[in-house]
Amino acid sequence: MAYTAIPRKYRPQKFSEVTGQEFITETLKNAIKSGRFAHAYIFAGPRGVGKTTTARIVAKALNCENPSEGEPCNACPHCIEIAKGSHPDVIEIDAATNRGIDQIRELRESVHYSPAKGKRKVYIIDEFHMLTREAFNALLKTLEEPPNHVVFILATTEIDKIPPTILSRCQKFIFRKIPQEQIVETLSQICKKEGVEFEREALELIAVASEGCMRDAESLLDQSIALGEGKVTAGLVSEFLGVLTGRDLRELLELGFEGEKEKLKEKLSNLEGSGYNPVFISKQLLNFVEKEFLRASNFSEEEMIAAFKLLSKGYEDLVKHPYPYTVLLFSLYSLSYFREVKKLEEILRSGVKPELPRGTEKKTENYDPVKTYAERIEESEEEVRIYPKNETCYKVLSKRLKQLQERFGKRVSLEIPKFEERVVGRKSISSDSDKVINKLVELFNAKVIQIKPKVNDESSDS
Ligand SMILES: Nc1ncnc2c1ncn2[C@@H]1O[C@H](COP(=O)(O)OP(=O)(O)OP(=O)(O)O)[C@@H](O)[C@H]1O
Ligand SMILES: [Mg+2]
Ligand SMILES: [Zn+2]
Repeated sequence: MAYTAIPRKYRPQKFSEVTGQEFITETLKNAIKSGRFAHAYIFAGPRGVGKTTTARIVAKALNCENPSEGEPCNACPHCIEIAKGSHPDVIEIDAATNRGIDQIRELRESVHYSPAKGKRKVYIIDEFHMLTREAFNALLKTLEEPPNHVVFILATTEIDKIPPTILSRCQKFIFRKIPQEQIVETLSQICKKEGVEFEREALELIAVASEGCMRDAESLLDQSIALGEGKVTAGLVSEFLGVLTGRDLRELLELGFEGEKEKLKEKLSNLEGSGYNPVFISKQLLNFVEKEFLRASNFSEEEMIAAFKLLSKGYEDLVKHPYPYTVLLFSLYSLSYFREVKKLEEILRSGVKPELPRGTEKKTENYDPVKTYAERIEESEEEVRIYPKNETCYKVLSKRLKQLQERFGKRVSLEIPKFEERVVGRKSISSDSDKVINKLVELFNAKVIQIKPKVNDESSDS
């Protein structure tokens, strides 16, 4: 038997098989059942979401010899001929190639002849927005007062281009993009019927890549089956479609949050080298963040919100940017500030438990490292000077300075270091077993300076 491509082989033959457009199919079925079917419909919506498919089911249901509950039987001669495209009363016109006034005049004439063998003549005009202005005008009268035996279904991806005079004479249905889960479900049904092994994640990747278009999703599945020699795996699909797996997306976010500059750069360079589209990566990241946000995730809710904001901003910049991968690098890396700020808060709220000096283990209960630290500063007469790593840290810290001072006494000073000072770096820390100090030092280039005995030369610090 000849090979039939999946989108054709699995074109829905009944309203109940059309996925994701339940509101429309239910309304149509009820209209057909009750015999109150209008004379002109507009089916608008994106590519490959079921407009032509639904129009053909309407044509069958209106002409079927044994309809049941508004559905066609798919077994009578009318249903069979319509499915084959050879029924004389179902006329499909492609407006992209028949745009002119002459074709519409011809159509206007033919409308008046009774159906050759069915009950209704159904005119399905695809790409309806492509008609010329004269052609639209020529059609107006017919749409207004069509003969009783005629139904028009006008399908279009661009409803904005249709004159209001036409729109107001038709019942309008707006087809929507198919939600991802429903695409995955449809694809998995097809795999089962085809006897093809698959990983669910592979189908999810296909659904992401098809952006709501069922026809694309089915064609991609078709190609994946061919490539994978019968087994559809996430790895294969990811490579072939340039779609990142959940693992890759998570890793990118994690590297961003952790501020792993080099690794992030390396990972992005690899993706760039393998031809992954940065705009698409960015979209996928946003999509991933949304999914993570809605389920129990390793990332916190605050992190997801921060990631969504930063990545959305990044997306806008990236689309027109000459170096989109660089934009991606920077917007992912900016996530690291978020964790730094959070870490600081944790430190201040005693979230970090420092290692206790030997012999003090008994104090573990109610042990407040920040307080302890402050006390220890008191004892050893140290002064803490915090040199924020960058503007952002500086701003955050200055807002919290008051709180810092309450905690540490007057011994905290916050300064933006001059470049040289940053290079000169830290003094050795006397109480180096104290993790809190180490954390501060690590995060904000804090300096711990012993006041007594005084630092030996003044020049190093001024
Ligand atoms: N809602 C759907 N449910 C199930 N399959 C669908 C759906 N939409 C599209 N398909 C699949 O995609 C194929 C193409 O669909 P259809 O021709 O109806 O798209 P369309 O909306 O008319 O697109 P276009 O605007 O490109 O003409 C169908 O053969 C079918 O396999
Ligand atoms: Mg179509
Ligand atoms: Zn039938």
